[in-house]
Amino acid sequence: MNKIFSFIFLLTAFMASQGHAQRKAIEQRVDSVMKLMTLPEKIGQLNQYSGREVTGPSSDRKNYLLNDIKNGMVGSMLNVKGVKDTREIQAIALQSRLKIPLLFSLDVIHGYKTVFPIPLAESASWDLSIIRKSAEVAAEESAASGIHWTFAPMVDIARDPRWGRVMEGAGEDTYLGSQIARARVLGFQGDKLGSVDRIMACAKHFAAYGASMAGRDYNPVDMSRQQLHEIYLPPFKAATDAGVATFMNSFNTLNGIPATGNSYLQRDILKKQWNYKGFVVSDWASIKEMTPWGFAKNLSEAAEKAIIAGSDMDMESEAYKKELEKLVNNGKVDVKIIDEAVKRILYKKFELGLFDNPYRFSDEKREQKVMNDPKYKEVAKSAAQRSIVLLKNANNTLPLSKATNNIALIGPLVNAKRDQAGSWVVYADTANMVSVYEGVKQKVKAAKLNVVEGTAITDTSTAGFKDAVNAAKNADAVVMVLGENWDMSGEAKSRTDISLPGKQEELFNAVKATGKPVIVVLMAGRPLVFNSIVEEADAIVYAWFLGDQGGNAIADVLFGDYNPSGKLPISFPRNVGQIPIFYNFYNTGRPVTKPTDIRYKSAYIDAPNDPQYAFGHGLSYTTFSYSDLKLSSTNPQKNENVKVSFKLTNTGKVIGEEVAQLYMQDTFASVVRPVKELKDFAKVTLKPGESKEITFELTPEKLSFYHEEKGWMIEPGEFRLMIGTASNDIKLKTSFELK
Ligand code: BGC
Repeated sequence: MNKIFSFIFLLTAFMASQGHAQRKAIEQRVDSVMKLMTLPEKIGQLNQYSGREVTGPSSDRKNYLLNDIKNGMVGSMLNVKGVKDTREIQAIALQSRLKIPLLFSLDVIHGYKTVFPIPLAESASWDLSIIRKSAEVAAEESAASGIHWTFAPMVDIARDPRWGRVMEGAGEDTYLGSQIARARVLGFQGDKLGSVDRIMACAKHFAAYGASMAGRDYNPVDMSRQQLHEIYLPPFKAATDAGVATFMNSFNTLNGIPATGNSYLQRDILKKQWNYKGFVVSDWASIKEMTPWGFAKNLSEAAEKAIIAGSDMDMESEAYKKELEKLVNNGKVDVKIIDEAVKRILYKKFELGLFDNPYRFSDEKREQKVMNDPKYKEVAKSAAQRSIVLLKNANNTLPLSKATNNIALIGPLVNAKRDQAGSWVVYADTANMVSVYEGVKQKVKAAKLNVVEGTAITDTSTAGFKDAVNAAKNADAVVMVLGENWDMSGEAKSRTDISLPGKQEELFNAVKATGKPVIVVLMAGRPLVFNSIVEEADAIVYAWFLGDQGGNAIADVLFGDYNPSGKLPISFPRNVGQIPIFYNFYNTGRPVTKPTDIRYKSAYIDAPNDPQYAFGHGLSYTTFSYSDLKLSSTNPQKNENVKVSFKLTNTGKVIGEEVAQLYMQDTFASVVRPVKELKDFAKVTLKPGESKEITFELTPEKLSFYHEEKGWMIEPGEFRLMIGTASNDIKLKTSFELK
């Protein structure tokens, strides 16, 4: 045993020293380039342009950009993609005096050529291996197309479904969000940067952007340090620990200071406390936007504040390019600050191997081979299946029999390929998406499918209802596909009303009035409010925007070829008035203990406190039982790990996957603690009758909380543990007393 330990120890020490030696070697190369650089050339490395115009038809802007690239005034381009274009633009950069290669970056958010489910959907899978795999495929495809760097993952915690960008993240929970952040970073980058089929990731938007006031994009954020450290920062820390190459700051202010000009965030926390070695890119024009915020009186002051606060690269403000040289010459910015930023960027260019071969990623043969690889479709299908959440299934309405003869497919999203792709589709051919209609047709070839739109997504007319009702009357099964269009979520797509747009809920009511059982498939980039459907539909399948293979995955679920396993990564409110709503709330001094008694309690007089569908909720075609709970210690020491194990059994008739969830409550502490917090989870596949023992581990880190003055701390006392199938469906309970 001792021999094994000493071997592992030596191996780890050897690997660490190798890593150290490699770092030193790259640093030396960076220094040797730095010595050759003039101040304008250094500043050029901090400048990032969007290349939409640079490859297009001739224009003044195009000439301006090309000229800057040729003169070494640009470090990176976003929005240039494809081997042909990246090669062409790189060749121009190599005409510059020092021939420093460009970094090509792009928003590869949920796939490049192959479109995966939107990130929020994929997070509903709680399946870290498929999440990692989909990021790997996105990296393979985009790397083969000359891209070095994606602006993903977005790791912003979001508790407000009005905010359109909830679609881009992992939902409301810090623990789940941190695990997913790690999986995505490792998927994009691999274990070590520099492989030709992986790309640099970017943890964004640093920080607290998901808490934009009132769910309105680009709005301010006011938040206690305790909330910031406990809820919003951990996914960024997880990305850092996973080796994320870059960070992006955010559009919002944090307690009055724009994130882009925020030293506390970028210098104190990221670069000092976390010892982060990558670089920070600003968000699009966020440096110059500090002027309309009223934080910098002009572009010069914006550049000064941003660089001093630790924003290394300027995306599309041209603030650094136009102002930094003057700021150094008049003594307002120390050249050392600029050197530090440049070094961080050059380091990544070396790590990617671009100084050795600037065209490494731009290989035509590889591009042709990688794009359209059929094996990626399988990954996309698996991700889409796992992202689907079965919200309701009264009387086992689902799955449908494959012998069903006559199926009415009703609603505006039955054949809506573009919508199904969701926001942030940068390259894919959306005509190739498999729609619900195509998926069902493929699945039940002999059935007669009657497709009726009934109403368009944002229609105000009910003229199409009649046909829809007739189709339902004549059908053996009725499936309605309703929801938002792709452009109602994403950046700058905040809504004050998150109910189904247009006349869709009325269409549902009309169809339901036929008396036929109605199955509703909902597509959206956020949680929606759909109260009559909750009450009246026989089954509800939440399908978000599932990308390429959406229709096949939905058909698999409808006809039982895939047993749904997704769980909500975000609470679904009953109405917008409940927002922000999340499962890990505080008890208050006046909690509602009996829903019938709300007088002078922390309650609403017109709606319950609890959500329509809770965080962690999601049904299956089988049933699971939880039993045999064991705890490694009921009286552990402060530095001891506590193990909780239990038996999970598939008690139903079909194979299924369950996401077992561990919640914890620190009952009394010097900072009020939430009623429960997710601390671990496991996604487990079980055959009918099969059992597995599952063990969760609570580390001291998981027991700690953030105190405004004292920082992270852990206190003795009672900790309650709850294991369940959803945050509101706890199956086993226990507790321990920390010494
Ligand atoms: C978004 C970023 C994105 C950038 C570049 C900004 O508007 O906030 O998330 O990466 O544009 O496209």
